[in-house]
Parts: sequence; C-alpha cells; structure tokens
Amino acid sequence: MRSEAGSDADGGSILDLFPRGSSVDSEGELVVGGLRLTELAETYGTPAYVVDETALRSQVAEFRTAMSSRWPNSLVCFASKAFPCTAGYAVMADEGIGVDVAGGGELTMALRAGVDPSRIVVHGNAKTTEELALAVQAKVGLIVIDNFDDIDRLESLVHSEQPVLVRVVPGVRPDTHEAIATGQHGSKFGLDGPDVDRAISRLRNSDRLRLDGVHMHIGSQIMATEPFTEAVRALAEFGEFDVYDLGGGLGARYTRADHPPSVRAWVDTLVDAAEQYLPARARLLVEPGRRLVAESGLTLYRVVSVKRGTPSFVAVDGGMGDNLEVSLYDQPFEATIANRLPTRDSPVFDLVGRHCESGDRLIQGVALSDPVVGDIIAVPVTGAYCFTMSNNYNGARRPPVVFCGDGRHRPVVRRETYEDLLRRDI
Ligand code: LLP
Repeated sequence: MRSEAGSDADGGSILDLFPRGSSVDSEGELVVGGLRLTELAETYGTPAYVVDETALRSQVAEFRTAMSSRWPNSLVCFASKAFPCTAGYAVMADEGIGVDVAGGGELTMALRAGVDPSRIVVHGNAKTTEELALAVQAKVGLIVIDNFDDIDRLESLVHSEQPVLVRVVPGVRPDTHEAIATGQHGSKFGLDGPDVDRAISRLRNSDRLRLDGVHMHIGSQIMATEPFTEAVRALAEFGEFDVYDLGGGLGARYTRADHPPSVRAWVDTLVDAAEQYLPARARLLVEPGRRLVAESGLTLYRVVSVKRGTPSFVAVDGGMGDNLEVSLYDQPFEATIANRLPTRDSPVFDLVGRHCESGDRLIQGVALSDPVVGDIIAVPVTGAYCFTMSNNYNGARRPPVVFCGDGRHRPVVRRETYEDLLRRDI
C-alpha cells in the first residue's frame, strides 16, 4: 500500500515520482530498492546519486519489448550521454540493448563495460580524427555522418567496409527548451536540404563507406507524440534505405504536474508512422536516453542550513555541482525529507544549493515537513544527465553513484576526494 503522505490536491503522492516499488515504512521512512534512504545516506554520505537497478532494468525491458513486439527488425540503443557510467553501460549490455556514444570517452566506457561493438552507434557533430580512428578500430556497428568532414576523415581511416548513416535535419521543432531542440532548420546537427542528397550520392559512390540509412534526433524532454509522427514523415522524404534511426527525445515525468506519453505510446507513434511512411523491410533504431534512466535515479542531500523568512530557504550540501538541469534548462523537480513526507499543511521553502550564485536553486517552492539541519532530502528523477554534467564548481567533489535493489546496495562510482581535485596539477 502506498502512503497517503505527501499527497497533493490532485491526490497524487510524491512517492509516485520515486522508482517503481518504492514505499514508506511504518516509521515514515522512504524505502527505495528495499532500503531506507536515510541509511543509504549514512553509508555513502551526501550528496549521492542512487539508482534503483531493478527499476532501471525493468525500464530497459519496457522499451525493448515495446519495440520488438511492434517492429521485430529493430534495436533500442541507449543514448548513453544521459548516464555515462560504466556500471550503467554494463546493465544495458546485460539487458541486450545497444548503445549510442557521442565521442571517444563514451566509446571507451561502453567498450570497458562489455558492450558488443556491433551494437554501438557513434555520434557527434565534431568527431575528431582520433575519435573516428578509435571507432573504426573497435569495429563499431554504425558511425553517423554529420558533415562532409566526417566523410573525408573516415575515407582516409577505413580499410574495409564501414557501415554509416547520414544525420539529417527533418525540419521539426518540438515544444521543449530551446537548448535541447535539435530537429529544426538551422540546427548545428546533421545535414539539411540539398546537402543531404550530396552526402548520400558521395557515400553511395564510396568504396569504403557503406551507406545503410539515415538518422534524426529532434530534441529532448518532448512531452507530445505529434512531433515524432511529423519527423518520421519528413525522414521518409530523403529516400528508401535499409536502416532508419529515429533518435530519442521522449520526456520524463519530473513532477506530478508532468504527463509525458508512456513508453508504449511513444513506440506506437513511431511504429505507426514507420508503417505508413517507411519501407516494411527496414531496420528501425531508437535512441532513448532520458526516459530510460531518469526515473530510476534520485539524489540524496543533507540539509546544511534552514533560513526562515520570505521566502524561507533550505540549503543543502549539493546543487549546481550535481544537477545542472535546473539552471540550464529550467527543469522543475520535487523533493521530500527522506523520513518525513510532506503533509497538506507543510510550509513551502526554496530548496537551494551550496554554490556561489543565485541561479543555484534546486526547487522554488517545495513543501517540506519541518526541515531541520541534518535531515536527508531526496530529489527523485535525477537519473538522467545529472551525473553526466556533474562538475567541480566551488571545488565540489563529484558525488558517488550507488546501485540498489532487492534490499542490497553497492557503490559503482566513488565520491571524488580533495586529492582528486589536485591530481591533474603538473
Ligand atoms: N540521440 C542523439 C543523437 C542525441 O543527441 C540525444 C540527446 C539522444 C539520442 C537522447 O535524447 P533523450 O532521449 O535523452 O532526450 N544535456 C541536456 C540533454 C541534452 C540531450 C542531447 N541529446 C540535459 O541535461 O537535459
């Protein structure tokens, strides 16, 4: 039974934002992966990223099953920029899906984790010769051509046949933050207009590069299905190919007010459009990142200071160093004290970070139940892009990543030390 604690006017509970299977025990403690969050905070310190591995695996399975049941000749590739952590890559490899990497760093981690190179797709609008050489040497399945320089570089590197896709601009602008919209004319990614035909004919005449198909990615945190239909229709106009990579972009549910399409609805939208506009024998790839990992992750902080006034502030021991979603993309989050969920009467606070700028606000106006110094705050839905963009602002040590599930926990990335901050000095 889910607790009524933390219910909002719509009847939804903040518990709904935590990984599937989370609960509140008889002492009011939030339990994720069979473990009390306060105990995880005690064991690993704060701030810490926690990933419910069971929930993560079940989310991967949901994407995989949705795709394979509707379009058997398909592959889900995790857009690993959303969570480029070796243990995360290992989960994807174990679950039998592919991985998309943007550059040599992500490629190195994917290979180290045991991802089958034939299931790796390499992206980037500025891939260096060194990165392309790494990809060719690793025998990756597909390299996505973004520009003519990619073609020049690859032709000089490849000796046997390398399969490639061409990234195209479908001319679709989904409703999302400007910084993460990528499918519109004028985007820095991919080729547009007559350049697409030029690239395609060059590749068709290449004796080293084998053109398998086209790729698009229209943006991220997209909360509607219509732009995906529009984009598949636009993609079909570039011609008939063996492979169509439809990108990622499905939005995650960060707050109770968010109602993104289900995984199934997203897949149905893409496949319905593919049935209508693409060749029936084509292989379909999709590259979900955010929605694959966001909801199985959360961040734990400790309250460092409570300042009452107008507004009242709760300051924690993290912030922009571990979560740039708020300051870069205005992404709303919710939060709760890990052993006292808010009630209808809980007062509202601004949850702020420890970094030296006013933009370091995690949540404006969050109901918290009597916060005091030392309390553990849990922010759900931080599994995507937070670890990715964690940084050392103000000398912050990047947090550890802890996997949990079935009452067990294991660290997969350790916390940085002050010594780490000095390690690269010469
Ligand atoms: N495929 C390509 C080629 C991409 O560039 C991306 C994301 C994806 C797939 C996955 O998209 P998703 O399913 O995660 O929406 N730093 C930003 C997010 C940038 C997304 C970049 N590309 C953030 O923190 O929100």
